[in-house]
Amino acid sequence: MERTQTLPNREATEDLARRLARLAKAGDAVMLKGPLGAGKSTFARAFLRELSGKPDLDVPSPTFTLIQSYDTPYGPVSHFDLWRLDGESALEEMGWDEAREGIVLVEWPDRLGSLTPEEALVVTLFPQPSVALSNMDEGDEPREVHLEGWKGRF
Ligand SMILES: Nc1ncnc2c1ncn2[C@@H]1O[C@H](COP(=O)(O)OP(=O)(O)O)[C@@H](O)[C@H]1O
Ligand SMILES: [Mg+2]
Repeated sequence: MERTQTLPNREATEDLARRLARLAKAGDAVMLKGPLGAGKSTFARAFLRELSGKPDLDVPSPTFTLIQSYDTPYGPVSHFDLWRLDGESALEEMGWDEAREGIVLVEWPDRLGSLTPEEALVVTLFPQPSVALSNMDEGDEPREVHLEGWKGRF
């Protein structure tokens, strides 16, 4: 599966995350790509809230801890932000293999190197040039999203 679509605002990004969360199962990996501020953590937060069944779930960014794990009715879900990862062995020490038994969400997945899962849903968010004189709500901007993977799942 491969497709590109426009996400006109943050709610659209969150909707997509919730829909994909409902397709996720143990052993799945979701790679979140795109530049800083693209919406990777926003996507991860909506995805985790959907799986946990808690719309107000606190989802801190794992920028410093690198991993944040959640127990959900669908099993453990681990949210990684690998921007500051110092080598693959550090990731293994953090419990990557065990996390892979559940669902993993990974920001900056290029850092995975040889630990990159063979099968994954790759979500790439592209910020769009902002439209001048638009009356969009502050904080809501369009994104393009490219989805690839999870063959036969949609
Ligand atoms: N269409 C959109 N999709 C996702 N986030 C959006 C969108 N429009 C505006 N935003 C805002 O952009 C910011 C994205 O931040 P964040 O999710 O932390 O990015 P990243 O994790 O990729 O660095 C948030 O403040 C969010 O409200
Ligand atoms: Mg982030």
